[in-house]
Amino acid sequence: MTILITGGAGFIGHTLTNYLLNQGHTVLLVDNFNDSYDPAIKWQHIESLRHLPNWSLLQGDIRDKRFMRQVFQANAIDGVIHLAGLAGVRASLQNPAAYFDHNVNGTAVLLDTMRNAGVKRLVFASSSSVYGVRAGGTFQETDSAEDSVSPYALSKRAAERLCQQHHRLYGLNVFCLRFFTVYGPQQRPDMAISRFIHQLHSGQPICLFGDGRSQRDYTYVDDIVLGISRAIERVKGFELINLGSANPVTLLELIALLEQQTKRRVPLNWFTDQPGDVPYTHADIRKARQLLDYQPTTDLAEGLRRMVISYQQNHVYLPALD
Ligand SMILES: NC(=O)c1ccc[n+]([C@@H]2O[C@H](COP(=O)([O-])OP(=O)(O)OC[C@H]3O[C@@H](n4cnc5c(N)ncnc54)[C@H](O)[C@@H]3O)[C@@H](O)[C@H]2O)c1
Repeated sequence: MTILITGGAGFIGHTLTNYLLNQGHTVLLVDNFNDSYDPAIKWQHIESLRHLPNWSLLQGDIRDKRFMRQVFQANAIDGVIHLAGLAGVRASLQNPAAYFDHNVNGTAVLLDTMRNAGVKRLVFASSSSVYGVRAGGTFQETDSAEDSVSPYALSKRAAERLCQQHHRLYGLNVFCLRFFTVYGPQQRPDMAISRFIHQLHSGQPICLFGDGRSQRDYTYVDDIVLGISRAIERVKGFELINLGSANPVTLLELIALLEQQTKRRVPLNWFTDQPGDVPYTHADIRKARQLLDYQPTTDLAEGLRRMVISYQQNHVYLPALD
């Protein structure tokens, strides 16, 4: 298949590209290299693909109708994996308009261009944040997702609904995958685990929000990538599908695991909960199992071990404590 990946220079995008190329697909990457974090990191992701065949980079913005039309006119695209957008809950409270522009307007331009080009397969990167604040239980795709607590979550929910509308109006086949906190080597530098590993290695205090009992269903990036790749092969109709690990851990458990893996300890500085954060996420992954034969295989300790090794190989760091 020839697959277009929007946001292909990002954390998940370049990991996915590597996997799809090794599976024999041809991949076109679209990315605008914005400064949501240091664009040099995104260029490093691109560099890491240089040894592989059958991919090309098209630098541009998904909101740019002319650019997107040219991309679809110049290439015979079988399907699109749409990862481009602004990610992160807290930053979305600082700049909500930019989140709606990239995530909703950008998705609308992409959908319109796909319709005009007759491309019928789409996988969209949505987020567990659409479920809002929940006290317990697992999150099912049939649960309400109408009480978002951040502009980011609302923008993802709006984009899901745009996809659903294109399915109804124009017969687009779309799987909206709701990712649960993705981690692994080259995780975005603004995300919690990346920051904690950096703070542990550089001897800085770790800044934490809440009381340590908040829980996240951390999901290893290779498991997410496998789920996405099955989704683009099997996409049919319109479906919302959770991709998580179904195994939430508390913030305190996460810190303990990181201290074990890095063999380091630093002071913990506690702050009150941030607006927009949710206390708890827990994916019900039965639908993903059924439709995608999805089965997460990397547990948190092993995933963190790989992430710490990757960090140590790529950064200057302090010697370990005895
Ligand atoms: N990482 C997670 O835990 C997580 C969880 C849920 C959902 N998601 C979603 O998955 C997708 C990928 O996440 P990631 O962690 O790899 O983020 P990322 O920021 O590393 O990747 C997103 C990429 O999209 C590009 N981009 C942004 N706006 C663009 C535009 N208008 N035109 C072209 N390119 C644009 C960015 O330059 C970036 O390279 C995002 O949509 C994110 O919201 C991620």
